Amino acid sequence: MLRPMGQMKTFPTPPLLWRPPAPQPPGGLRVAWWIASRQRRDLLEVVTADSYRQPVTPIPVGRRKVFVVSDPDLIRYVFVDARTNYPKSDLMRAALGPLLGEGLLVSDGDTWVHDRQMLDPAFAQMRLEQVFPLMQQAVREHAEHLVALGDGIVVDLEEELSRVTADVIFRAIFSEPIAGADAAEVFAAFMRFQRGAPQFELDVVLRSDPAAPEPTPPAVLEDARAVRRLIGKLVDRRRAALARGETFVDFAQTAIDARDDQGQPFSQERLIDQLTVLFLAGHETSASALTWTLFMLNQQPEALARLRAEVLSVMGTRPMAFADAKSLQWTRAVFREALRLYPPAAFLTRVALADDQLGEVQVPRGSLIVVSPWVVHRHAALWSDADRFDPTRFTDGAPAPRPGSYIPFGMGPRVCTGASIAQLEAQLILAEHLRRFEFDPIHPERVKPVSRVTIRPRGGMLCRILQRDRRQH
Ligand code: HEM
Repeated sequence: MLRPMGQMKTFPTPPLLWRPPAPQPPGGLRVAWWIASRQRRDLLEVVTADSYRQPVTPIPVGRRKVFVVSDPDLIRYVFVDARTNYPKSDLMRAALGPLLGEGLLVSDGDTWVHDRQMLDPAFAQMRLEQVFPLMQQAVREHAEHLVALGDGIVVDLEEELSRVTADVIFRAIFSEPIAGADAAEVFAAFMRFQRGAPQFELDVVLRSDPAAPEPTPPAVLEDARAVRRLIGKLVDRRRAALARGETFVDFAQTAIDARDDQGQPFSQERLIDQLTVLFLAGHETSASALTWTLFMLNQQPEALARLRAEVLSVMGTRPMAFADAKSLQWTRAVFREALRLYPPAAFLTRVALADDQLGEVQVPRGSLIVVSPWVVHRHAALWSDADRFDPTRFTDGAPAPRPGSYIPFGMGPRVCTGASIAQLEAQLILAEHLRRFEFDPIHPERVKPVSRVTIRPRGGMLCRILQRDRRQH
């Protein structure tokens, strides 16, 4: 039997010297000074060196108690065993509530249980196979768009990847491209909302008071309303198409057809909540992860060569098929390693409803609990040579990470519903784009990560796109 290239030992492991960029962790005193002097600092910068070594680290100053929890067993406790004491934080609801209403990402309690049960079938393997051709079409058209831009064009890589991931998820939801006038307006209003929404910056987190949530500026609220109006219009259009006898196999259809135990469908408002969640959760995260994947591959030519060799061996020159995903093992391992080093959702926040104890630490009611995939994935006790890019951590035969130490999609009942589609999409984009193009960052040495809604390159990542010889794909 032919072994897929991903398992062959023909390529050297990545050079040991290169370290993907990350802020140098400061000491607690320096952070206390930043906080006391009200300096605006990015959240990634204020994670103290202790957090990468200790199970629970308090952040010392501020109106409310904040704890960074980095021990896998305690993370499991917060996310699984004692989860009813640790619902989603008020910060998250204040930032995203105007856009997402009671959508899955921000809802809690009975509402969340009810809605998650209704939506889970949308993400079954069979449904993914059905939406795959829609995803494929989006990626194909994006490749054509890059070709049309011209050989050697310089673009902001993350912006370009947001374009394709938004289109992929939009087609998977509504079976239509984002280029349509309404869809493009959703995308534009959504981008404005993101830029204007209260960010999770240090001073916002520390000033936050559960009793008086951070107000959302009126212009941002209007953008949220615009997104919701447009999604509502797309749902109405779908209902009209259904009345004409048309049929669909996308996520919107699954959500429209979903029924609860009582045989009840989602209300129109709740349907808009859920479809907006899928759009939000489904494209920014993927764009961020793919930006860092392409950046690191550019810095690690052996890993990139191995990926291209795998694509050639699995797919030849034909387009990727759904069934190829399981053979593209190195591509998958590269993406998983990128999610380890640059988890798009770097800070997952919860609030303690009652006093509790996490390990040795007393946690008073109202405390903000921060579980940071960024910290856990770089924790010295959990990963060997944690700062190094090494996809072989995730190839066949490598020891499985300790439960709770690899959490790019979260953990427990609130784990990401879109993890499978995100990985499938990443394999599709990496396989199809890397055989056609080189992605060369203009100033790789200047690339620094910052934490916004996702982990992104500070000031963007200008990148030259070169078209590869057509015979190679
Ligand atoms: C690389 C891509 C992605 C990453 C890293 C990611 C990460 C996450 C994380 C960490 C959570 C849990 C948040 C928490 O516990 O506070 C989450 C939740 C969620 N994600 Fe994703 N996600 C990705 C892609 C997607 C996609 C493609 C979709 C949908 C098509 C999606 C839909 C959701 C939904 C609906 C939730 C809420 C689940 C719940 O609370 O029941 N995500 N995601």
